[in-house]
Amino acid sequence: MKSLPYLLLLFLSLWACKDKPAPAEPAAPVIGTLAENAMVVSAREEASKIGVEILKKGGNAFDAMVATEMALAVAYPYAGNLGGGGFMVYRTQYGEIGALDYREKAPLAAERDMYLDSAGNYLSEKSKVGALAVGVPGTVAGIFAVHQKLGTLPMEELLRPVIALARNGYVVTEKQAGRFEQYASVFEKVNEEASLYTLGQKAGDTIKNEALAATLERLADKGRSEFYQGETAEKLVAFLQSKNGIITLEDLDAYEAQWREPVQFTYKGLNIISMSPPSSGGVCLAQIMKMVEPYDLSEYGHNSTKSIQLLAEAERRAYADRSYYLGDPDFVEIPLDTLISEGYAVSRMENFTFQAATPSSEVTHGNITMAEAAMAESMETTHYSIVDAFGNAIAVTTTLNGAYGSKLYAKELGFFLNNEMDDFSAKPGTPNMFGLIGGEANAIEPQKRMLSSMTPTLIEKEGAFWMSVGTPGGSTIITSVLQTILNVYEYDMSMQEAVNAPRFHHQWLPDIVMFEPDSFPQPTLDSLSQLGYTIDVNNAPVIGKVDAILRLPDGTLEGGADRRGDDTAVGY
Ligand code: GLY
Repeated sequence: MKSLPYLLLLFLSLWACKDKPAPAEPAAPVIGTLAENAMVVSAREEASKIGVEILKKGGNAFDAMVATEMALAVAYPYAGNLGGGGFMVYRTQYGEIGALDYREKAPLAAERDMYLDSAGNYLSEKSKVGALAVGVPGTVAGIFAVHQKLGTLPMEELLRPVIALARNGYVVTEKQAGRFEQYASVFEKVNEEASLYTLGQKAGDTIKNEALAATLERLADKGRSEFYQGETAEKLVAFLQSKNGIITLEDLDAYEAQWREPVQFTYKGLNIISMSPPSSGGVCLAQIMKMVEPYDLSEYGHNSTKSIQLLAEAERRAYADRSYYLGDPDFVEIPLDTLISEGYAVSRMENFTFQAATPSSEVTHGNITMAEAAMAESMETTHYSIVDAFGNAIAVTTTLNGAYGSKLYAKELGFFLNNEMDDFSAKPGTPNMFGLIGGEANAIEPQKRMLSSMTPTLIEKEGAFWMSVGTPGGSTIITSVLQTILNVYEYDMSMQEAVNAPRFHHQWLPDIVMFEPDSFPQPTLDSLSQLGYTIDVNNAPVIGKVDAILRLPDGTLEGGADRRGDDTAVGY
């Protein structure tokens, strides 16, 4: 029998606890879609399903790339495209790695000062809206290059479900309807006519794009040359020239996608493979990860003051280097090996201290001699990840740059044209639409590729494929990919939790740290302010929209499809 004092003590302790919540059960992990064999994660369910349909037919990840890329052009015209460009990083089932650059190029008639007035003032609208903003599109060259080198199924078979999607239509989502409403009047103004995307489609409506179905049919019949020399090329150039553009048939004819060596580096036992220049993604990701590698991030805790501070300081230094050193490697010499080396990372962090922020005004690019080397939020790009049943893995990021690119819609062909010219430094030292300050290395030259931040990334662990990851988000792409990797590796999150977790971003200039709103504890933000960081929780409703695939220890694939969009993982 229990004694009276014991019962009294029990009563008093129950009384004392009556207003306190029951001790929290550890939250069950949020797990994304699981699949045993293969998976596609993209911005639209239709595109992921079409990719998986190709995989189930026996196609490989490269076949699925062609179909997924084109399906996004149909169902996600915000960023999916025929009129833009992108990058793919791959790892085959045999462990061979590579990268494809199908980034747009400046037209032959482009000039360094084409967006400046006679007094040297930057006319920023000219590089963002209308025909002068358009770079020579690379996407069609990209899918044909992938198909030729690594695909297995006939192109007609890959495009058949995409043509059916364009012809039978896709259903407008709530998020998509909001964007159509926001941009319909802009499309009408820029194009000086109504078109498919000015009809005020609502959520639940079906959009059929017969013009795009016909363009895709011609590509399936006649191949790559249809877009760069054939009827489509002629129609595209006539359209752009009618809008005072400068792209010619000669520009299209000269366009080639380039196979490149990806950037490769290690982080605490991981082997990370990411996109090389003309994207800054892989180089900046490597720089930041090498700068933070000596520190015990997992010990500091996820999104703690200390870990945010460390990452922001590494980001500050990497983005300062980005502005100075990076551009199209076919035009500028880049000290790539030095930039991503451990020794250089250590030297860049020499003036870092946990006691206070390093003001960006005190940070410039690091000093590398060539002899030694021998914002506003944006979601307009799109990323997808694919793993096939053979063990091939790809990460692909593709873009029109801004939302619906230049807003120019080639009605007869059924697609939007990019405004990628804004990714050049139109006037070195002046920010672009992402607030990024460009340097001389990224100045406009005919046939040059504009610097990108796209960061399609594959990761190996213990010699095997481990993760495919990437995101849209302009300048925030690099830092979103970074945080997603760290969330899984340092903080033991599932793939879906890592994608869901709130994100922050710093890019040297402007000297502010942006946070997704209502996601970070106020005491953390206050302690960062006290250390000298300028905090912005109002101007980045979302940072990144990550799609990723993680291979779990038993070989199962876990998809991470970003809750911030309509993104969907489909697998089998
Ligand atoms: N257009 C965005 C990027 O390439 O980074």
